[in-house]
Amino acid sequence: MPPSIVAQMLRTGLYTAVIGRQVRFYQSTGSTMDDAAEWARAGIEEGAVVVAETQTASRGRLGRRWISDEGNLYFSVLFRPEPEALPLLSPLAGVAVVRSIRQVAGLYPSIKWPNDVMIDGRKVAGILAESALSGPQVQHAIVGIGVNVALDVSSDPEIAATATSLNHAAKADIDRAELLRRILQHMDALYLDIRRGRSPIPEWRRWLDTLGQRVTVTHHGSSDTGLAEDIDDHGNLLLRTDAGELLTLTAGDITLRAAQGAPAANA
Ligand code: BTN
Repeated sequence: MPPSIVAQMLRTGLYTAVIGRQVRFYQSTGSTMDDAAEWARAGIEEGAVVVAETQTASRGRLGRRWISDEGNLYFSVLFRPEPEALPLLSPLAGVAVVRSIRQVAGLYPSIKWPNDVMIDGRKVAGILAESALSGPQVQHAIVGIGVNVALDVSSDPEIAATATSLNHAAKADIDRAELLRRILQHMDALYLDIRRGRSPIPEWRRWLDTLGQRVTVTHHGSSDTGLAEDIDDHGNLLLRTDAGELLTLTAGDITLRAAQGAPAANA
C-alpha cells in the first residue's frame, strides 16, 4: 500500500506552532468531524488534526452530504478559541484554502459567501465549522475542510454541473500532501495572527465574489432578494433587500440560492 497522505506530508515536514501537533489518519471513517469531536471531548489540546482518505458519513453545511471518494482531501482541525475568535475560524479556513490552491495548483479561486471555494464558478472546496459551547465559553470548535482534488465530478449527476476538481481545473495532478501541508501551515499562521489581534476578515473579503451581486438568500424557510452589500467584522453578510431593509445574515442557516431538493454539498 502506498504511504498515506499524512505520511507523505510529514516526510517533508510540517512547520507549524499549534496546528498539527497531533495528527490522526484513517483510511476510512464516518466523518472526520465526529472523530475530531470525540478526540476533543477526550481532552486533546488544540491543533489536533484528523485526516481521512474516505468518509462514509461525511456532512456539509445544511445537513447535506459531502461526496468523499478516495484521492481528495478530507480533514478536520480542532481549536479551543476565545469566544471572540469563534466566528473568525471559518473565514480563516477560507483564506488558508485560497492561498494554498494559488500556491500549489497555480489557480485563482474565489469564495462564495459564506465559504464555498470556487474556480470558474464551480465549487472545488467546502468548509464546515461546528462548535461545542458551555455558557459563554467555547469547549471546542472544529473546522472541517473537503477539497475535490481528483474527483471526477461528471460521474455524479448531483454535482456534475456545479462542481469541479483541482486536477481538472489545473489540467495536472496536484500534489495532495503538499496542498494539505500548505493549508495547515496557513491555518496556523492565521490563527496566530488572530491571537495577536489580527483578523482574517479583510483578506477573506478580498476573495469574496459575492459582494456587489444580486442574490436570493433562503433562511428559516423564507427568501429575500437584494444586493449583497458588505460583510461585517464577524463575517456576517449585509444584504440590502429590494424593500430597502438591511439584513445581517449569519452563515449557519443560509443558502444563497433557492432550495432545489437537497443536492450534495460538493455542488
Ligand atoms: C460544505 O461545503 O457544505 C462543507 C463541506 C465540508 C466537508 C468536510 S470533509 C472533512 C470534514 N468531514 C465532514 O464530514 N465534513 C467536513
